[in-house]
Amino acid sequence: MSNYHIKHLEEYWQVYRKSLRNPESFWEEIAEEHFLWRKRWDNVLSWDFSKPEVKWFEGAELNITENCIDRHLATRGDKTAILFEPNDPSEGAQHITYNELHERVSKFANVLKSQGIKKGDRVCIYLPMIPELAVSVLACARIGAIHSVVFAGFSATALSTRINDCDCKMVICSDGSFRGNKTIDLKGIVDEALKSCEGVSTVLVAERTKSDIEMKEGRDKWLQPLLDEADSVCKATVVKAEDPLFILYTSGSTGKPKGMVHTTAGYMVYSAYTFKNVFQYREADVYWCTADIGWITGHSYIVYGPLANGATTVMFEGVPSYPDYGRFWEIVEKHKVTQFYTAPTAIRALAKENLEFVNKYDLSSLKVLGTVGEPINEEAWHWYNDNIGKKNSPIVDTWWQTETGGIMISPIPYSTPTIPTYATLPLPGIQPALMDENGKELKGNQVEGRLCIKFPWPSMARTIYGNHERYRDTYFSAYENAYFTGDGALRDAVGYYRITGRVDDVIIVSGHNLGTAPIEDAINEHPAVAESAIVGYPHDIKGNALYGYITLKETGEGRNHDNLSKEINQLITDRIGPIAKLNKIQFASGLPKTRSGKIMRRILRKIACKETSNLGDTSTLLNPEVVNELIEQSLVVS
Ligand code: PRX
Repeated sequence: MSNYHIKHLEEYWQVYRKSLRNPESFWEEIAEEHFLWRKRWDNVLSWDFSKPEVKWFEGAELNITENCIDRHLATRGDKTAILFEPNDPSEGAQHITYNELHERVSKFANVLKSQGIKKGDRVCIYLPMIPELAVSVLACARIGAIHSVVFAGFSATALSTRINDCDCKMVICSDGSFRGNKTIDLKGIVDEALKSCEGVSTVLVAERTKSDIEMKEGRDKWLQPLLDEADSVCKATVVKAEDPLFILYTSGSTGKPKGMVHTTAGYMVYSAYTFKNVFQYREADVYWCTADIGWITGHSYIVYGPLANGATTVMFEGVPSYPDYGRFWEIVEKHKVTQFYTAPTAIRALAKENLEFVNKYDLSSLKVLGTVGEPINEEAWHWYNDNIGKKNSPIVDTWWQTETGGIMISPIPYSTPTIPTYATLPLPGIQPALMDENGKELKGNQVEGRLCIKFPWPSMARTIYGNHERYRDTYFSAYENAYFTGDGALRDAVGYYRITGRVDDVIIVSGHNLGTAPIEDAINEHPAVAESAIVGYPHDIKGNALYGYITLKETGEGRNHDNLSKEINQLITDRIGPIAKLNKIQFASGLPKTRSGKIMRRILRKIACKETSNLGDTSTLLNPEVVNELIEQSLVVS
């Protein structure tokens, strides 16, 4: 039996049971046999969820880039590590071997050092999906600097909030980015953001679009000339197991985004282990995850997990619709992709297009299909299974979160029988629990409740940067001795888990987590707006879309609603990014409120979803008359 590579269902159960019986020796064996340590740990695990404090492999010393790069050089130096597929197919793919990656990361790390970056410093990376993104992430890790990657679709305001929250000293960006037939002025966004970031002394600019940009003297530096001069050897900085590796922001239901802090050793072990098993990765495979490295999926399953296993990982700069809707499948055929990992929203968008875009290509190399980010609906699951996998490639519906660092509940392909919409079984080491509303655990099967995890796993986030109290309140205060995920789930008759969706005010739109509060704050900045409330409603492609109820101040009442809607969506785009724009806006005469003044979102949600036949108890409302008005007004909202 191998703990590291599970190959059939019986073996899964054996390994899973072992991980329950003795989690510490379970992870210790894996850590010992499959990774490179500069110093061994003194203690595998110490934990206390009441503080909360979790430490894995304490006392150990390592560098994650030695695990992701150096140790492969002797046997896989000429193997492709990163296969870069550009936005424009005529530009041609780039195969970056492990040897080349080693040199590029070393040079970049030396540039960081020459610009004054030291172990523990925070570096913000705001780059499109070009090789420099993966290289800069690894270069930070090489010298023990903490990377904070911000998805390059976020606005200047969102970027500056994230830069300031963790006091980044440096920003790494590019002149611009290509997305389909659009060119985006990334450097302009950075310049705007930095007007309110005093702590940033250096901006390194990679050349991508060759756009005409401004370079601020003393602050902005072109990356390439610095790389040209840099030494190609950079000794890895040894860090402690629990030293932070990166910060990654995720939306909360209220307040500013949370900078989740992931530490080094546990994250490395868990992302590598889950990559190996969930994708059944084998040496000659070509693995492709279509996420952006700006999200956790890209961190764990484009960069760290695959590289720690010596894999070939595809990095795609473009979008699924450019030059046409066959692009994903063209890439699968061209590079003979074996594992393909994407989001339900992409599947739904592609399923709407002509099947010719799929059938033109030879997809026979595929062995495993994955989905992540939101529940996958049955129709999309079948389309994926029938047309992409040709009923031959198991679908792994992987449930996890930015906070969990790695996949938590997922089938193991070729072992776990799959059922559409079910994430199925917990991975080894993961102990899920379902809780009722009073905080009691629901034991046994055929139960539905709130999903918690009862025991620590190596890649869990350790804190929220600069706000440990918020970390405790958000994740460890709802239930005693358990991590609360914010999701609802059911466990069926055989013990399979199905995720039913968020139980808080986070709405997942096209796989992106959006908190309602920051969007409402942006809307409320409009001078004509008195109040607003955002809810989600089902959408064919996005999964959920945003529906905004907006009440106007008297001064705004005579104004043209079309213009106002545009101005409000522009405000949201400026403050957060285009992903948070409202699909529907209802200018309302009032919002339903409880006697304590809280907006009753439950009712607003039902109206937006056109489920008005049973609105539940409205008797506690301060203004019950507003409900019928809202229903009537909603009929004309398009
Ligand atoms: O609600 C769950 C949903 O996405 C949330 C986590 O979002 P984020 O931190 O952005 O990470 C996304 C990528 C790991 C979860 O709380 N979610 C994620 N995967 C699934 C899912 N919901 C249902 N099924 C999934 N497979």
